Amino acid sequence: MILLTGGAGYIGSHMLCELLEANHDVIILDNLSNSSVEAVKRVESLTNKHCTFIEGDIRDRQLLDDIFSQHSIDSVLHFAGLKAVGESAEKPLMYFENNITGSLVLLEAMKAANVKKIVFSSSATVYGDPEQLPITEDCPTSMPTNPYGYTKLAVEQMMMQLVQSDPAWSVAALRYFNPVGAHSSGMIGEDPQGVPNNLLPYIAQVSVGRRDKLSVYGNDYDTHDGTGVRDYIHVVDLAKGHLRALDYIADKTGYFVWNLGTGNGFSVLDMVKAFENASGKKIPYQVVDRREGDIAACFADPKKAAVELGWTTQKNIDDMMEDTWRWQSQNPQGYGN
Ligand code: NAD
Ligand code: UD1
Repeated sequence: MILLTGGAGYIGSHMLCELLEANHDVIILDNLSNSSVEAVKRVESLTNKHCTFIEGDIRDRQLLDDIFSQHSIDSVLHFAGLKAVGESAEKPLMYFENNITGSLVLLEAMKAANVKKIVFSSSATVYGDPEQLPITEDCPTSMPTNPYGYTKLAVEQMMMQLVQSDPAWSVAALRYFNPVGAHSSGMIGEDPQGVPNNLLPYIAQVSVGRRDKLSVYGNDYDTHDGTGVRDYIHVVDLAKGHLRALDYIADKTGYFVWNLGTGNGFSVLDMVKAFENASGKKIPYQVVDRREGDIAACFADPKKAAVELGWTTQKNIDDMMEDTWRWQSQNPQGYGN
């Protein structure tokens, strides 16, 4: 059985879908601070399979002890966390408490229950402004410029030292590039609260009239059209990468890091065009100043995951856009409709 923390969230709900389809037994622990239980219900009806949903917090040690003692859990997929970069700059302590203390409490409960396999949602943000492109796993990490990024690096380092102290642990840190897209059914997708911080959810909300126009954060970067370049990865490909990582660590111990990206870089304007093609909608935009903390370009070298996990992405930019459009047009208000 697998414990999936944050399983009601955007990536977690797509992960749940892949896990249930692969016939895993799953328990979700999610405090619903940034998600809706509707996502879990929809996955259950999509897959015609069930999971156990527990509304609760990863910082609740007693609850974790109860979960580990009542269920025979082999491994943990740890997605729970806060992820808004801007909010983290305003409320750093809240981010440290939720993401770092939360992960610490989870690891302590795992140790007490002798469950020592964990896959962690890390981020390409740990590379900072990369020294080389594409980014390989042995590129140095650097001190992130925002508290959210710091929590990812801190949890990675905590787990690395844990493995050094007790080699019975098996830890996979998956460094996501930019997850986008939605399940091809259109039933689950990304439903940010308030104004979206990330590019594609913003474009999607412009397309259904929830926002007037996109602000393009700068067109004077050293990239092919001057706008920021990123490695967008379909959320279903991303979820499948976790299944492979889970298989890989099933019979191994140690600390493993893999980039999960496509290896391709697309600019903001490439993304606008691709979305317009998929949706048939015009996306009005205006170029504004650069956003503080942004870098010009970031994309993965995904070879390590290909060689070691046998995982490569299957979905292209058009799939990402078509699936985002299907989800947003069928659910203009997200799960709130
Ligand atoms: P999300 O906000 O949709 O999902 C996170 C889930 O965790 C939510 O359902 C939330 O309610 C839950 N949660 C938060 N704090 C919790 C706590 N203390 N106890 C229990 N549940 C809690 O975000 P997502 O995009 O699905 O991201 C999942 C993970 O991947 C996060 O750790 C995030 O930092 C990481 N990540 C996301 C991206 C991205 O672009 N979406 C990129 C890199 C890494
Ligand atoms: C951001 C975070 C990163 C986090 C990731 C996933 C920052 C500085 N970085 O990455 O730490 O891991 O999200 O949550 O916030 N853009 C616009 N207009 C918009 C939104 C974005 O032009 O309204 C541009 C950005 O400048 C960037 C690209 O689109 O060039 C992608 O932005 P975004 O989706 O926010 O992702 P990242 O900045 O890569």
